[in-house]
Amino acid sequence: MRAKIIGTGSCLPDRCVTNEYLSTIMDTSDEWIKSRTGIRERHLVSSETETTLTLAVKAAKAALADSGVLPEELGLILVATVSSDFITPSTACMVQKELGASHAAAFDINAACSGFLFALNTVDAYFQAGIYQTALIIGVETLSKIIDWKDRSTCVLFGDGAGAVVVKAAEEGLIASLQGSDGSGGDILICKNRTNNNPYISTGTDPDFLYMDGQEVFKFAVKKEPECINALLKQAGFDASDVTYYLLHQANFRIIASIARKLKLPLEKFPSNVSHCGNTSAASIPILLDEVHREGKLSEGDLLLLSGFGAGLTWGAALLRW
Ligand code: COA
Repeated sequence: MRAKIIGTGSCLPDRCVTNEYLSTIMDTSDEWIKSRTGIRERHLVSSETETTLTLAVKAAKAALADSGVLPEELGLILVATVSSDFITPSTACMVQKELGASHAAAFDINAACSGFLFALNTVDAYFQAGIYQTALIIGVETLSKIIDWKDRSTCVLFGDGAGAVVVKAAEEGLIASLQGSDGSGGDILICKNRTNNNPYISTGTDPDFLYMDGQEVFKFAVKKEPECINALLKQAGFDASDVTYYLLHQANFRIIASIARKLKLPLEKFPSNVSHCGNTSAASIPILLDEVHREGKLSEGDLLLLSGFGAGLTWGAALLRW
């Protein structure tokens, strides 16, 4: 049995922050951000009632409603995030409590922007092993809390949000998937946690902000993502043109356009929401999937290829039948 997505949901914070607004609080411009990334605006949490947990729960409830699955029917809840509200308990356990999904096992996955794909692959492996039959996967981030708002080269890129899918074990769903990591390249996109602090050693306790070498990440993305997509298509025995839609990690529209060019495909096959969401890391692919689904663009039997890359370094792709 394979993982079949039977419901989607998403949630963006209420506050929409435009490039124009950012240009009033830092040395940047709408023109610079739009021309380098395609981003026009992003949503940021702006009240105590908006947290990683509350965004995740809203997206999850929407996905459950869309699927018709009840919380008690869930066997597994996986949350992909690098910006949980607590180190422990996991966001997944907190979501479980809020939903009353009392029969589910729940844990978080940290694979940065590839996290949703790693979670989908994990669920699929559990289904293939016959361990679970129904799962909820959430990608959620409030990256705005770990971003350095004095670093204009990173803070304009990211947004907050959550996307969720309900997945059932079925004869047909996920067809093939790939995932990979290269820890040796990890220093181009990092965010340190607390450092040593005990009676024997104290090196400071303040967590750090996100640091990114944008040009190196760009080079990594435009090389690794098409390689991964081509390897997956070859493994599954499909041509690039067989795929109905490519739902890629929404980091930068120039990266998406570069991948479309390398695959020799029209941009119409690459739906994008980066212009109004920015980069929402682990949430970006499920938010995009939910938007495309709710806009009525998907038909039963469509072939979807989901792919992304991120800190770690990590990358992944999944080919599935809608
Ligand atoms: N507004 C205005 N100017 C800015 C700016 C901003 N927000 N951020 C940086 N600049 C300036 C720089 O200071 C630099 O000025 P200088 O030439 O006087 O030194 C200039 O713009 C060019 O900066 P550079 O870093 O070379 O820009 P770039 O063309 O490489 O674009 C990124 C920067 C971040 C948009 C691009 O590298 C990128 O998209 N990288 C991938 C990031 C990514 O996908 N991350 C997600 C990983 S999951």
